[in-house]
Amino acid sequence: MEFRDVLRRRRMIRTFEPRPVPDATLRRLLRAAQRAPSAGHTQPLGLVVVRDPQARRHLAAASWSRGARPDAGDVTVVFCGDLVREAERYGARGAGKYLYMDVAYAAMLFMLAAVNEGLATAFIGDFHEEHVQAVLGLPPHIVPVGMVIAGYGHEEPRARPWRPLDEIVHYERYSPAYDWTPRRLPPQRPS
Ligand SMILES: Cc1cc2nc3c(=O)[nH]c(=O)nc-3n(C[C@H](O)[C@H](O)[C@H](O)COP(=O)(O)O)c2cc1C
Repeated sequence: MEFRDVLRRRRMIRTFEPRPVPDATLRRLLRAAQRAPSAGHTQPLGLVVVRDPQARRHLAAASWSRGARPDAGDVTVVFCGDLVREAERYGARGAGKYLYMDVAYAAMLFMLAAVNEGLATAFIGDFHEEHVQAVLGLPPHIVPVGMVIAGYGHEEPRARPWRPLDEIVHYERYSPAYDWTPRRLPPQRPS
């Protein structure tokens, strides 16, 4: 598929056909996720592939998502990040910012690769982390960041309105610019 079509078709899909995703296809998607960049190549990513219907129902019970449900589609992939791996390297920035960025990049690649294979996906962030950790047997330092459900879509990607590009893009400087001058003064020297 043309890259621009992949981008265009990448929308959150919430209803699916009862058709399994072949193992080989799923493996290609998992490999795509693995190719995501990570801060300092720390690779904090952990992926839990859940196909068992009962386990997926347990994941659904941990989520209050009212759009996509973790037991929809054929497979749920739980995208996790290793808090210790990131924090050992980058401290608080690693445990906060980088962990979520690294894992989110991987989820995005997984979703784009899925569209390229004719599949549909949805990302779910609305869930109780500890509940999901308990369902999957994750240790406390392996943080579930998001779940991606995948399958053959039963709906066409919806065209949802975007904010105007000019409203979000600023050239050279944010507009209207915030005046930081009062806060940027160097510390006063004692006289
Ligand atoms: C961080 C994050 C969390 C999300 N959590 C949920 C969720 O719990 N349930 C859901 O149905 N969709 C969830 N979504 C999907 C968004 O609602 C969706 O991406 C957005 O409405 C834009 O639609 P589109 O992806 O089809 O362009 C989430 C998306 C992101 C990026």
